[in-house]
Amino acid sequence: MQKSVHLVYEAQKYYFLAYLYLKFQNLLQLLKKNIILAIESSCDDTGASVISDGKVLSNCIANQSIHERYGGVIPEVASRQHQENIVPVVDQAILTAGISLQDISAVAITKGPGLMGSLLVGVSFAKAMAMTLHVPLIEVHHMQAHILAHFATEHKPEFPFLCLTVSGGHTQIVLVKNHLDMVILGETRDDAAGEAFDKAGKMLGLPYPAGPHIDKLAQKGQLKYQFPIPNIPDLDFSFSGFKTSVLYFLQKEMKNDDSFIQNNLNDLCHSIQFAIVDILIKKLEKAVTLHPVKHIALAGGVSANSALRQAFTQFGKKNQLEVYIPDFEYCTDNAAMIGITGYYKYMAKDFSDLNITPDPKFEMK
Ligand code: KG4
Ligand code: ZN
Repeated sequence: MQKSVHLVYEAQKYYFLAYLYLKFQNLLQLLKKNIILAIESSCDDTGASVISDGKVLSNCIANQSIHERYGGVIPEVASRQHQENIVPVVDQAILTAGISLQDISAVAITKGPGLMGSLLVGVSFAKAMAMTLHVPLIEVHHMQAHILAHFATEHKPEFPFLCLTVSGGHTQIVLVKNHLDMVILGETRDDAAGEAFDKAGKMLGLPYPAGPHIDKLAQKGQLKYQFPIPNIPDLDFSFSGFKTSVLYFLQKEMKNDDSFIQNNLNDLCHSIQFAIVDILIKKLEKAVTLHPVKHIALAGGVSANSALRQAFTQFGKKNQLEVYIPDFEYCTDNAAMIGITGYYKYMAKDFSDLNITPDPKFEMK
Protein backbone atom coordinates (compact mmCIF):
# COMPACT_ATOMS: atom_id res chain seq x y z
CA MET A 1 0.00 0.00 0.00
CA GLN A 2 2.75 2.36 1.09
CA LYS A 3 4.71 1.56 -2.07
CA SER A 4 1.84 2.23 -4.51
CA VAL A 5 1.11 5.64 -2.86
CA HIS A 6 4.77 6.47 -3.34
CA LEU A 7 4.60 5.48 -7.04
CA VAL A 8 1.52 7.66 -7.62
CA TYR A 9 3.30 10.52 -5.95
CA GLU A 10 6.40 10.01 -8.14
CA ALA A 11 4.27 9.86 -11.30
CA GLN A 12 2.48 13.06 -10.35
CA LYS A 13 5.82 14.76 -9.75
CA TYR A 14 7.15 13.79 -13.19
CA TYR A 15 3.87 14.76 -14.81
CA PHE A 16 4.10 18.16 -13.14
CA LEU A 17 7.74 18.61 -14.20
CA ALA A 18 6.86 17.70 -17.79
CA TYR A 19 3.97 20.16 -17.66
CA LEU A 20 6.32 22.91 -16.41
CA TYR A 21 8.85 22.07 -19.12
CA LEU A 22 6.20 22.37 -21.86
CA LYS A 23 4.93 25.67 -20.43
CA PHE A 24 8.51 26.95 -20.35
CA GLN A 25 9.02 25.90 -23.99
CA ASN A 26 5.79 27.68 -24.97
CA LEU A 27 6.96 30.80 -23.17
CA LEU A 28 10.34 30.64 -24.93
CA GLN A 29 8.53 30.22 -28.23
CA LEU A 30 6.44 33.31 -27.48
CA LEU A 31 9.51 35.34 -26.54
CA LYS A 32 11.43 34.13 -29.60
CA LYS A 33 11.21 36.30 -32.67
CA ASN A 34 9.71 34.85 -35.84
CA ILE A 35 12.68 34.74 -38.13
CA ILE A 36 11.94 33.84 -41.73
CA LEU A 37 14.67 32.97 -44.21
CA ALA A 38 13.26 33.74 -47.67
CA ILE A 39 14.54 32.67 -51.07
CA GLU A 40 13.48 33.96 -54.50
CA SER A 41 14.60 32.33 -57.77
CA SER A 42 11.63 32.60 -60.14
CA CYS A 43 13.44 34.16 -63.10
CA ASP A 44 16.97 35.52 -63.42
CA ASP A 45 17.65 37.04 -59.99
CA THR A 46 18.78 34.94 -57.02
CA GLY A 47 17.55 36.57 -53.83
CA ALA A 48 17.76 35.75 -50.12
CA SER A 49 16.40 37.75 -47.22
CA VAL A 50 15.94 37.50 -43.47
CA ILE A 51 12.75 38.89 -41.93
CA SER A 52 12.39 39.20 -38.16
CA ASP A 53 8.87 39.79 -36.79
CA GLY A 54 7.87 41.30 -40.15
CA LYS A 55 10.92 43.58 -40.38
CA VAL A 56 13.59 43.27 -43.07
CA LEU A 57 17.02 42.47 -41.59
CA SER A 58 18.68 41.71 -44.93
CA ASN A 59 17.74 41.67 -48.59
CA CYS A 60 20.50 40.29 -50.84
CA ILE A 61 20.40 39.70 -54.57
CA ALA A 62 22.62 38.35 -57.34
CA ASN A 63 21.54 39.65 -60.75
CA GLN A 64 22.33 37.68 -63.89
CA SER A 65 23.77 40.16 -66.38
CA ILE A 66 24.76 37.22 -68.61
CA HIS A 67 21.31 37.36 -70.32
CA GLU A 68 22.04 40.81 -71.77
CA ARG A 69 24.12 39.26 -74.53
CA TYR A 70 21.20 37.03 -75.61
CA GLY A 71 18.57 39.83 -75.57
CA GLY A 72 16.36 37.89 -73.12
CA VAL A 73 16.45 35.32 -70.33
CA ILE A 74 17.69 31.88 -71.43
CA PRO A 75 16.01 29.45 -68.95
CA GLU A 76 18.83 26.87 -69.00
CA VAL A 77 21.47 29.52 -68.33
CA ALA A 78 19.31 31.11 -65.59
CA SER A 79 18.99 27.86 -63.63
CA ARG A 80 22.73 27.20 -63.80
CA GLN A 81 23.41 30.72 -62.53
CA HIS A 82 20.99 30.16 -59.64
CA GLN A 83 22.96 27.02 -58.75
CA GLU A 84 26.15 29.06 -58.61
CA ASN A 85 24.63 31.98 -56.70
CA ILE A 86 22.27 30.45 -54.18
CA VAL A 87 24.76 29.43 -51.47
CA PRO A 88 26.73 32.73 -51.43
CA VAL A 89 23.52 34.80 -51.51
CA VAL A 90 21.88 32.88 -48.64
CA ASP A 91 25.16 33.06 -46.68
CA GLN A 92 25.32 36.81 -47.23
CA ALA A 93 21.68 37.30 -46.15
CA ILE A 94 22.29 35.39 -42.90
CA LEU A 95 25.56 37.21 -42.23
CA THR A 96 24.09 40.65 -42.93
CA ALA A 97 21.10 39.92 -40.68
CA GLY A 98 23.46 38.90 -37.86
CA ILE A 99 21.58 35.70 -37.08
CA SER A 100 22.64 32.07 -36.92
CA LEU A 101 20.99 29.10 -38.61
CA GLN A 102 19.48 28.02 -35.26
CA ASP A 103 17.50 31.29 -35.06
CA ILE A 104 15.48 30.52 -38.20
CA SER A 105 11.78 29.78 -37.50
CA ALA A 106 10.72 28.95 -41.09
CA VAL A 107 11.93 28.96 -44.68
CA ALA A 108 9.81 30.79 -47.28
CA ILE A 109 10.22 30.04 -50.97
CA THR A 110 8.74 31.19 -54.30
CA LYS A 111 6.70 28.25 -55.61
CA GLY A 112 5.73 30.08 -58.82
CA PRO A 113 4.88 31.48 -61.27
CA GLY A 114 8.23 31.54 -63.05
CA LEU A 115 10.70 29.44 -65.01
CA MET A 116 10.68 25.76 -64.00
CA GLY A 117 14.46 25.32 -63.92
CA SER A 118 14.95 28.52 -61.93
CA LEU A 119 12.18 27.71 -59.43
CA LEU A 120 13.55 24.18 -58.95
CA VAL A 121 16.87 25.47 -57.67
CA GLY A 122 15.22 27.65 -55.00
CA VAL A 123 12.54 25.13 -54.00
CA SER A 124 15.01 22.24 -53.64
CA PHE A 125 17.37 24.38 -51.61
CA ALA A 126 14.57 25.67 -49.34
CA LYS A 127 13.23 22.14 -48.77
CA ALA A 128 16.66 20.89 -47.79
CA MET A 129 17.12 23.80 -45.36
CA ALA A 130 13.69 23.36 -43.78
CA MET A 131 14.32 19.62 -43.39
CA THR A 132 17.77 20.05 -41.86
CA LEU A 133 16.70 22.81 -39.47
CA HIS A 134 13.41 21.06 -38.54
CA VAL A 135 11.39 24.20 -39.31
CA PRO A 136 8.26 24.70 -41.46
CA LEU A 137 8.45 25.37 -45.19
CA ILE A 138 6.22 28.16 -46.55
CA GLU A 139 5.35 28.36 -50.26
CA VAL A 140 4.83 31.85 -51.65
CA HIS A 141 3.10 33.15 -54.79
CA HIS A 142 5.49 35.52 -56.56
CA MET A 143 2.81 38.07 -57.60
CA GLN A 144 1.16 38.10 -54.18
CA ALA A 145 4.63 38.82 -52.80
CA HIS A 146 5.12 41.78 -55.17
CA ILE A 147 1.97 43.30 -53.63
CA LEU A 148 2.96 42.51 -50.04
CA ALA A 149 6.34 44.21 -50.62
CA HIS A 150 4.42 47.31 -49.48
CA PHE A 151 4.37 45.82 -45.98
CA ALA A 152 8.17 45.75 -45.84
CA THR A 153 8.19 49.47 -45.09
CA GLU A 154 6.51 51.76 -42.54
CA HIS A 155 4.18 53.34 -45.11
CA LYS A 156 1.61 50.53 -45.43
CA PRO A 157 -1.66 50.69 -47.39
CA GLU A 158 -4.94 50.07 -45.58
CA PHE A 159 -7.35 47.32 -46.64
CA PRO A 160 -9.12 47.10 -48.96
CA PHE A 161 -6.89 48.65 -51.61
CA LEU A 162 -6.40 48.27 -55.35
CA CYS A 163 -2.99 47.25 -56.63
CA LEU A 164 -1.74 47.73 -60.17
CA THR A 165 0.87 44.98 -60.49
CA VAL A 166 3.13 45.41 -63.50
CA SER A 167 6.09 43.13 -64.09
CA GLY A 168 7.94 41.34 -66.88
CA GLY A 169 5.48 38.45 -66.87
CA HIS A 170 2.25 39.90 -65.43
CA THR A 171 -0.05 42.89 -65.62
CA GLN A 172 -2.89 42.75 -63.13
CA ILE A 173 -5.35 44.88 -61.22
CA VAL A 174 -5.88 43.22 -57.85
CA LEU A 175 -8.36 43.97 -55.10
CA VAL A 176 -6.43 43.36 -51.89
CA LYS A 177 -8.88 42.57 -49.09
CA ASN A 178 -6.28 41.36 -46.64
CA HIS A 179 -2.66 40.17 -46.59
CA LEU A 180 -3.66 36.74 -47.80
CA ASP A 181 -6.99 37.50 -49.44
CA MET A 182 -6.69 38.97 -52.94
CA VAL A 183 -8.95 38.96 -56.00
CA ILE A 184 -7.62 39.51 -59.53
CA LEU A 185 -10.05 41.95 -61.19
CA GLY A 186 -8.30 42.08 -64.54
CA GLU A 187 -5.09 40.95 -66.22
CA THR A 188 -3.30 40.87 -69.53
CA ARG A 189 -4.61 38.58 -72.23
CA ASP A 190 -1.20 38.34 -73.90
CA ASP A 191 2.03 40.26 -73.20
CA ALA A 192 2.76 41.98 -69.90
CA ALA A 193 3.62 45.69 -69.57
CA GLY A 194 7.27 44.85 -68.82
CA GLU A 195 7.38 42.65 -71.92
CA ALA A 196 6.00 45.56 -73.98
CA PHE A 197 8.87 47.74 -72.70
CA ASP A 198 11.44 45.01 -73.32
CA LYS A 199 10.23 44.01 -76.79
CA ALA A 200 9.79 47.59 -78.01
CA GLY A 201 13.27 48.32 -76.63
CA LYS A 202 14.71 45.35 -78.50
CA MET A 203 13.27 46.79 -81.75
CA LEU A 204 15.10 50.01 -80.92
CA GLY A 205 18.33 48.07 -80.40
CA LEU A 206 18.44 48.56 -76.62
CA PRO A 207 19.98 45.93 -74.28
CA TYR A 208 17.84 43.52 -72.24
CA PRO A 209 15.93 44.32 -70.09
CA ALA A 210 15.05 47.46 -72.05
CA GLY A 211 12.54 48.91 -69.54
CA PRO A 212 15.10 50.88 -67.48
CA HIS A 213 16.90 52.07 -70.67
CA ILE A 214 13.66 53.36 -72.20
CA ASP A 215 12.91 55.13 -68.91
CA LYS A 216 16.29 56.89 -68.97
CA LEU A 217 16.26 57.89 -72.65
CA ALA A 218 12.60 58.99 -72.51
CA GLN A 219 13.58 61.72 -70.04
CA LYS A 220 15.61 63.40 -72.81
CA GLY A 221 12.84 63.07 -75.41
CA GLN A 222 9.32 64.30 -75.99
CA LEU A 223 5.95 63.03 -77.14
CA LYS A 224 6.26 62.93 -80.94
CA TYR A 225 4.59 59.69 -82.08
CA GLN A 226 1.12 58.34 -81.29
CA PHE A 227 0.53 54.62 -80.82
CA PRO A 228 -3.01 53.22 -80.69
CA ILE A 229 -4.61 52.39 -77.31
CA PRO A 230 -6.13 48.87 -77.53
CA ASN A 231 -9.83 48.59 -76.85
CA ILE A 232 -10.01 45.68 -74.40
CA PRO A 233 -13.22 45.10 -72.39
CA ASP A 234 -13.54 44.93 -68.60
CA LEU A 235 -10.38 45.41 -66.58
CA ASP A 236 -8.20 43.28 -68.84
CA PHE A 237 -5.14 44.46 -70.75
CA SER A 238 -3.49 43.58 -74.05
CA PHE A 239 -0.07 44.69 -75.24
CA SER A 240 0.51 42.47 -78.28
CA GLY A 241 -1.33 44.84 -80.69
CA PHE A 242 0.66 47.74 -79.30
CA LYS A 243 3.91 45.85 -79.86
CA THR A 244 2.92 45.10 -83.48
CA SER A 245 1.99 48.73 -84.12
CA VAL A 246 5.45 49.83 -82.89
CA LEU A 247 7.07 47.23 -85.16
CA TYR A 248 5.12 48.27 -88.29
CA PHE A 249 5.73 51.94 -87.57
CA LEU A 250 9.49 51.42 -87.23
CA GLN A 251 9.65 49.23 -90.35
CA LYS A 252 7.84 51.90 -92.38
CA GLU A 253 10.03 54.74 -91.14
CA MET A 254 13.25 52.78 -91.54
CA LYS A 255 12.37 52.09 -95.18
CA ASN A 256 12.48 55.84 -95.85
CA ASP A 257 15.40 56.62 -93.54
CA ASP A 258 17.66 53.89 -92.18
CA SER A 259 18.93 56.23 -89.45
CA PHE A 260 15.38 56.95 -88.23
CA ILE A 261 15.73 55.03 -84.94
CA GLN A 262 19.19 56.39 -84.24
CA ASN A 263 18.13 59.99 -84.92
CA ASN A 264 14.89 59.85 -82.94
CA LEU A 265 15.72 57.40 -80.15
CA ASN A 266 14.84 59.66 -77.22
CA ASP A 267 11.51 60.75 -78.71
CA LEU A 268 10.67 57.15 -79.64
CA CYS A 269 11.37 56.03 -76.05
CA HIS A 270 9.30 58.89 -74.66
CA SER A 271 6.35 58.14 -77.00
CA ILE A 272 6.43 54.36 -76.35
CA GLN A 273 6.62 54.89 -72.60
CA PHE A 274 3.80 57.44 -72.75
CA ALA A 275 1.53 54.95 -74.55
CA ILE A 276 2.22 52.09 -72.09
CA VAL A 277 1.65 54.33 -69.06
CA ASP A 278 -1.53 55.70 -70.66
CA ILE A 279 -2.93 52.16 -71.17
CA LEU A 280 -2.20 51.30 -67.52
CA ILE A 281 -3.64 54.48 -65.97
CA LYS A 282 -6.80 54.38 -68.10
CA LYS A 283 -7.57 50.86 -66.81
CA LEU A 284 -6.81 51.89 -63.26
CA GLU A 285 -9.30 54.73 -63.66
CA LYS A 286 -11.96 52.23 -64.68
CA ALA A 287 -11.07 49.90 -61.79
CA VAL A 288 -11.42 52.69 -59.22
CA THR A 289 -14.84 53.59 -60.62
CA LEU A 290 -16.03 49.97 -60.41
CA HIS A 291 -14.39 49.22 -57.07
CA PRO A 292 -14.23 52.40 -54.99
CA VAL A 293 -11.35 52.32 -52.49
CA LYS A 294 -9.42 54.94 -50.57
CA HIS A 295 -5.93 53.53 -51.15
CA ILE A 296 -4.16 52.47 -54.37
CA ALA A 297 -0.79 50.78 -54.75
CA LEU A 298 1.70 50.06 -57.51
CA ALA A 299 3.83 46.88 -57.59
CA GLY A 300 6.22 44.85 -59.78
CA GLY A 301 9.33 45.67 -61.78
CA VAL A 302 7.66 48.28 -64.03
CA SER A 303 6.68 50.27 -60.93
CA ALA A 304 10.31 51.48 -61.04
CA ASN A 305 9.38 53.46 -64.16
CA SER A 306 9.61 57.19 -63.46
CA ALA A 307 6.75 58.21 -65.82
CA LEU A 308 4.44 55.57 -64.34
CA ARG A 309 5.29 56.63 -60.78
CA GLN A 310 4.53 60.23 -61.70
CA ALA A 311 1.27 59.44 -63.53
CA PHE A 312 0.16 57.17 -60.68
CA THR A 313 0.81 59.90 -58.11
CA GLN A 314 -1.06 62.48 -60.19
CA PHE A 315 -3.96 60.07 -60.64
CA GLY A 316 -4.15 59.59 -56.87
CA LYS A 317 -4.09 63.34 -56.22
CA LYS A 318 -6.80 64.00 -58.81
CA ASN A 319 -9.07 61.33 -57.31
CA GLN A 320 -8.19 62.01 -53.65
CA LEU A 321 -6.73 58.58 -53.15
CA GLU A 322 -3.83 57.68 -50.88
CA VAL A 323 -1.01 56.45 -53.14
CA TYR A 324 1.57 53.74 -52.33
CA ILE A 325 4.62 53.29 -54.55
CA PRO A 326 7.33 50.81 -53.50
CA ASP A 327 10.91 51.86 -52.74
CA PHE A 328 13.14 50.96 -55.70
CA GLU A 329 14.68 47.93 -53.93
CA TYR A 330 11.18 46.41 -53.60
CA CYS A 331 10.01 47.10 -57.19
CA THR A 332 11.94 44.48 -59.12
CA ASP A 333 12.33 40.87 -57.96
CA ASN A 334 13.69 40.53 -54.42
CA ALA A 335 13.53 38.04 -51.58
CA ALA A 336 12.31 40.50 -48.91
CA MET A 337 8.85 40.46 -50.50
CA ILE A 338 8.89 36.64 -50.29
CA GLY A 339 9.91 36.89 -46.62
CA ILE A 340 7.18 39.41 -45.78
CA THR A 341 4.56 37.14 -47.40
CA GLY A 342 6.16 34.21 -45.56
CA TYR A 343 5.79 36.13 -42.30
CA TYR A 344 2.02 36.60 -42.76
CA LYS A 345 1.64 32.95 -43.75
CA TYR A 346 3.71 31.94 -40.72
CA MET A 347 1.40 33.92 -38.43
CA ALA A 348 -1.56 32.16 -40.09
CA LYS A 349 0.25 28.79 -39.66
CA ASP A 350 -0.10 28.26 -43.40
CA PHE A 351 2.72 25.76 -43.94
CA SER A 352 3.58 23.52 -46.89
CA ASP A 353 4.50 19.87 -47.19
CA LEU A 354 8.14 19.09 -47.79
CA ASN A 355 7.13 17.26 -50.96
CA ILE A 356 5.89 20.38 -52.81
CA THR A 357 7.15 20.99 -56.33
CA PRO A 358 7.48 24.33 -58.17
CA ASP A 359 4.53 25.45 -60.25
CA PRO A 360 5.53 27.67 -63.23
CA LYS A 361 1.85 28.62 -63.73
CA PHE A 362 0.95 28.90 -60.04
CA GLU A 363 -2.49 30.52 -59.70
CA MET A 364 -3.09 33.21 -57.08
CA LYS A 365 -5.80 32.04 -54.65
O1 KG4 B 1 9.05 42.21 -61.34
P1 KG4 B 1 10.23 42.00 -62.21
O2 KG4 B 1 11.59 42.29 -61.63
O3 KG4 B 1 10.29 40.53 -62.74
C1 KG4 B 1 9.13 39.79 -63.05
O4 KG4 B 1 8.50 39.28 -62.12
O5 KG4 B 1 8.86 39.76 -64.26
O6 KG4 B 1 9.99 42.90 -63.51
C2 KG4 B 1 10.92 42.95 -64.54
C3 KG4 B 1 10.40 43.90 -65.58
C4 KG4 B 1 11.21 43.92 -66.88
O7 KG4 B 1 10.35 43.79 -67.97
C5 KG4 B 1 11.88 45.29 -66.86
O8 KG4 B 1 12.12 45.83 -68.13
C6 KG4 B 1 10.86 46.11 -66.11
O9 KG4 B 1 10.41 45.26 -65.08
N1 KG4 B 1 11.43 47.35 -65.55
C7 KG4 B 1 11.13 48.58 -66.01
C8 KG4 B 1 11.90 49.49 -65.26
N2 KG4 B 1 12.64 48.77 -64.35
C9 KG4 B 1 12.32 47.46 -64.56
N3 KG4 B 1 10.28 48.97 -66.99
C10 KG4 B 1 10.18 50.29 -67.23
N4 KG4 B 1 10.91 51.22 -66.57
C11 KG4 B 1 11.76 50.87 -65.57
N5 KG4 B 1 12.45 51.81 -64.91
ZN1 ZN C 1 8.56 39.69 -60.26
